[in-house]
Amino acid sequence: MRLLVLGGTHFLGRHVVAAALDRGHDVATFTRGVSGEPPAGVRALHGDRDDPAALPAALHGWMPEIVVDTSCQTRVAARNAAAVLSGVRGYAFVSSLNAYANWPPGPIGPEDGEPTWETDEDEYGPVKAYAEREIRAVVPGRFLTARAGLIVGPDDRVDRLGWWLRRVARGGRVVVPAEGWDQPIAAVDVRDLAGWLVAMAEQGVSGAVNATGPTGMTTLGGLLDLCREVTGGDAEWAPVPEADLLAAGVEPWLHLPLWLPAEVARTAWDVDTTRARELGLPSRPLGRTVADTWAWLQGVDELPPPPHGLSRPGLPADLEAAVLTRG
Ligand SMILES: NC(=O)c1ccc[n+]([C@@H]2O[C@H](COP(=O)([O-])OP(=O)(O)OC[C@H]3O[C@@H](n4cnc5c(N)ncnc54)[C@H](OP(=O)(O)O)[C@@H]3O)[C@@H](O)[C@H]2O)c1
Repeated sequence: MRLLVLGGTHFLGRHVVAAALDRGHDVATFTRGVSGEPPAGVRALHGDRDDPAALPAALHGWMPEIVVDTSCQTRVAARNAAAVLSGVRGYAFVSSLNAYANWPPGPIGPEDGEPTWETDEDEYGPVKAYAEREIRAVVPGRFLTARAGLIVGPDDRVDRLGWWLRRVARGGRVVVPAEGWDQPIAAVDVRDLAGWLVAMAEQGVSGAVNATGPTGMTTLGGLLDLCREVTGGDAEWAPVPEADLLAAGVEPWLHLPLWLPAEVARTAWDVDTTRARELGLPSRPLGRTVADTWAWLQGVDELPPPPHGLSRPGLPADLEAAVLTRG
């Protein structure tokens, strides 16, 4: 089928392109062309999706049959896609758990029972929720919105798992959140999500899906143990009570990626993924994801900056030293 990837040159989009080529599709990507190009064999279409004239001009009569949309970050981008792509037979849209008005802290039950943002701020969650509504309205019954949780795997320039891997590999005493160690967490491997998005678009599946790994697939401590196993470092865990971390100025999620204070974490990681499992979203063993991410990192000299103005995660050395000294 003629498959258009909106995005397609970064992390998730790149893996969507690989999956689509594997499945024999005639693939086009639509990006500004400022941060890389898709692999050979793909029609690299260029333009800014915030410009209403750009997508029709780039398509130039090549109309896709199915779409995977990984790059929608603005209201106007959603409206522009809706104006051009109403004729497709399947549209898989990448949204986020942030589309839910009460997440975080959650918990998130089955998709249909959970309200999404209806406000008009240009924040990430409200924009994703608006985009879902805007595009669904033009492809009713053929629009799937994947409300993704934490996405991990090779090519991840957001670098949350990557930071932990490098830090653990360096060894020595590694600050970990004492109360957060046994907290169940979940993630989806970028390759599992990418292949599944292509399959969902092919089949024209509709509706919302909490697109993440099964609740309780691991704990934060379990993931960090895997990082130590895979990197072979001699890291020694230095558990620091949450109150001490916060008092020292350690910012949850940013300075210690994937760590949330216990009260939020308990519900934020509690996401119902029954529909994702029913629809066949795979969840490969986390050890493989961690090992493949580490293998990919070995070949990366310098990571490009994280997208969408996100800050580079990680615990600054001076803050780490201060926290360890206090302990
Ligand atoms: N990482 C997570 O844990 C997580 C969790 C939940 C949801 N999500 C969502 O998952 C998706 C991840 O997508 P991704 O990994 O493929 O990377 P991304 O960084 O969101 O997408 C960037 C892609 O879109 C293109 N692009 C950016 N702005 C554009 C514009 N104005 N017009 C046309 N193309 C544009 C970029 O190419 P150019 O720069 O060349 O234009 C690039 O190919 C996002 O929608 C994100 O919100 C991520």
